[in-house]
Amino acid sequence: MLRTVTCGEINSLNVDRPVTLAGWVETYRDHGELIFIDLRDRWGITQIVFSSQHNTKLHQEAKHIRVEFVIQVQGVVKRRPDGTVNKKLPTGEVEVLVDQLEVLNTCPTPPFELGDKSVNEELRLKFRFLDLRRKDMIESLTFRHRVTKIARDYLDSQLFIEVETPYLTKSTPEGARDFLVPSRLTPGSFYALPQSPQLFKQLLMVAGYDRYYQFARCFRDEDLRSDRQPEHTQIDLEMSFVEQQDVMQTVEGLVSEIIKKTIGKTLVRPFRVLSYETALNRYGSDKPDLRYAMEIQDLTEIFKGAGFKIYDQVIAGGGKIRALCFDFPPGVDFSRKNFDDLTAWIRNFGAQGLAWFKYKGPGQWDSPLQKFFDADRLAKVSAACKAQPGSVIFMVAADPAVSAVALGALRCRLAEEYKMIPENAFEILWVTDFPLFEWNAEEKRYQALHHPFTSPKPEPDYKAWFEKDPLKLKARAYDLVLNGTEIGGGSIRIHQRELQNEVFRILGIGEKDAEEKFGFLLKALSFGAPPHGGLAIGLDRLVTMLLKRESIREVIAFPKTQKGTCLMTEAPSEVSEKQLQELHLRLKK
Ligand code: AMO
Repeated sequence: MLRTVTCGEINSLNVDRPVTLAGWVETYRDHGELIFIDLRDRWGITQIVFSSQHNTKLHQEAKHIRVEFVIQVQGVVKRRPDGTVNKKLPTGEVEVLVDQLEVLNTCPTPPFELGDKSVNEELRLKFRFLDLRRKDMIESLTFRHRVTKIARDYLDSQLFIEVETPYLTKSTPEGARDFLVPSRLTPGSFYALPQSPQLFKQLLMVAGYDRYYQFARCFRDEDLRSDRQPEHTQIDLEMSFVEQQDVMQTVEGLVSEIIKKTIGKTLVRPFRVLSYETALNRYGSDKPDLRYAMEIQDLTEIFKGAGFKIYDQVIAGGGKIRALCFDFPPGVDFSRKNFDDLTAWIRNFGAQGLAWFKYKGPGQWDSPLQKFFDADRLAKVSAACKAQPGSVIFMVAADPAVSAVALGALRCRLAEEYKMIPENAFEILWVTDFPLFEWNAEEKRYQALHHPFTSPKPEPDYKAWFEKDPLKLKARAYDLVLNGTEIGGGSIRIHQRELQNEVFRILGIGEKDAEEKFGFLLKALSFGAPPHGGLAIGLDRLVTMLLKRESIREVIAFPKTQKGTCLMTEAPSEVSEKQLQELHLRLKK
């Protein structure tokens, strides 16, 4: 070894001990007769000292050292003089008086200061190998390692085995676009990178590998956001002979273990469960953030027959009048301009407008709309919303889903803007009973809300709904939501070929098409597939949330930008004509 100790381990117990250290120069301070260097490695920082009194030649040599040089030093551990102890560092009581120096490598002036928190992200990603030297990044990757280690140990204790599945495969529809890889050996054919190992894990169940898991890299060519990457990692698992409850309990065990062992928080089990419908009606989202209350109210009944034209029309068309009551923090004067901004913004969610009623006390309102409604009706509104003097009631009249989603978005925005979210709260819940299908109005067809292998909920008459009204069918699917982010999703799968065919039929996947795309799955289902189900946790998202980082890029060693590029390697990049030829490809001009 080029060192006897790391930069994070010596302390006052080691005084007078000779040590050899190797690492990067974090800071360099020339105080004339003394030169101080903070030497850094993955484990920490140790202060080393070059003294002209102690060794003049070495002190001269040290003058050539610069930040981020890689050096090796030999010296003796000394107690720092009184008044110079750094309590923030575990090594802060000592320093190493250097006797020998070797410069192992030099470094030009780095494009940014490693300690500077305000560095622009593009620069950080371009020089990721430098960025990864920063304490924050070391912390986040080490934390991520711990999460995976805890998960592996837990799943092993529950008798899961880790099985790898292929990256070069046939596409599995999970709702995103595939990344394709042209095949050299089969001209004109393409592999797809897996959007998830969904079908392979189901095939493993057919093969009898009850209790599979994998840290699976999943590839999805979709528009990126701060919590999405073109390749992300899932803790993917699947079990046989289970019901929804069994998978949920297993995942609760896993997630509770991870959270307990990393941040020391004990989650209350069983986790809360909300149906999709309740989540949407109360919070306007299928991933509600329950760290704050603010429930949406349905005021449709109150406004029925009020004679207010817009509301009458919406109600007659099957729409809803929903409301969100918000108490602005003391001292906040919410102006007309603020309302106008919110009204413009809420149109992004499909709402035509936003009404507001400021409740000042019994019978006293401030609103451009108050003149349209009688006092009784307004009294019912304030009662339903539990308004307090000063509360503002926002209302959206629209199609049931739009009115809920628009107010759900407003709920999140207000909570964030007015700092209503408690710092260290962790609110985890299951959302269940999703619809099996949704209607894609643009393409005029049904699509699976999760994926096409999700089992319908066997409610009375459910088989008839395939014919009569597929949108009534519910799925045996469950999403895990933490603080308003979906961190996992799964379902009980269809394990019988006939039912799978039926679902494909509703999705407009004809027999021939199904055979071509999923022939192997259909075949496997007919060869003795056991009832099975599973789930996948978004590892990047979970780690981001536990560490309270801004984006998932902060917990991935080499992430892509929002445009799907890697600024460091400059991928994606052009390839040579020869490579294209080998792949039987020609680029369009
Ligand atoms: P799903 O598509 O819901 O399910 O994905 C599971 C979890 O993975 C995370 N996730 C992502 N994280 C980062 N970037 C992305 N682009 C991204 N997409 C998804 C989310 C999500 O909850 N095969 C099914 C699982 C199953 O049914 O067992 C699946 O992939 O946290």
